[in-house]
Amino acid sequence: MEFTDVVRNRRMVRRYDPARAVPAEVITSALSNAIRAPSAGFSQGWDFLVLTMTQHREAYWAATADPDDEPDSWLMGLLTAPTLILCLSDEGTYLRRYAEPDKGWTDLDEAHWPARYWDIDTGMAALMILLTAVDEGLGACFFGTPPDKHADVFAAFDIPRDRKLVGVVSMGYAMPHPKSASLRRGLRGLDQVAHYGSFGRHNPETLAPDR
Ligand SMILES: Cc1cc2nc3c(=O)[nH]c(=O)nc-3n(C[C@H](O)[C@H](O)[C@H](O)COP(=O)(O)O)c2cc1C
Repeated sequence: MEFTDVVRNRRMVRRYDPARAVPAEVITSALSNAIRAPSAGFSQGWDFLVLTMTQHREAYWAATADPDDEPDSWLMGLLTAPTLILCLSDEGTYLRRYAEPDKGWTDLDEAHWPARYWDIDTGMAALMILLTAVDEGLGACFFGTPPDKHADVFAAFDIPRDRKLVGVVSMGYAMPHPKSASLRRGLRGLDQVAHYGSFGRHNPETLAPDR
């Protein structure tokens, strides 16, 4: 698929055909693209926990569900996903990488980081997974795990405590599903978000080459 079509066609898909597994080569392709995401200092402080077996996916949902609540339509949809990929960031890798001589932040102080690059880079890698799914004719969704459930997820899958669960990507063959209510907000266009030369100047006249 053309790159622009992949980008434009990508939507978060929240319901899948449960009878169709994700081909192993699609998962491998998605992960192979994920590890080519950019990362600060080439730290690559990410890990991906892939859950394709029913028992493993059920263990994730069991760890994150509220036993007293009936599953809502969001959860009923995502429960159909034949593959889940937990995207984990590793802060320590970045602090140690940036303590190396070429960076020199030997104090390992988190204050050097106005933005948490370990989470950003893991998010960039997750985007690669989302785009690969579209390119391969599948759908995917990036979603969060409730903060009070992270400890149970970590315990269920022996995830080291120094990792952070940035998000989960579900993947599968898309089934019809209602549009997210969030989309009603509409796309913020370039006339709002692009600033040229100075914040608030939305006229792209400075895109013309310098004379
Ligand atoms: C960081 C992040 C967290 C998100 N968390 C959730 C989530 O927990 N549940 C969910 O259904 N969608 C989640 N989304 C998907 C957004 O709702 C979705 O990207 C947005 O509404 C735009 O829709 P689109 O991606 O289909 O264009 C998340 C997206 C991002 C980037």
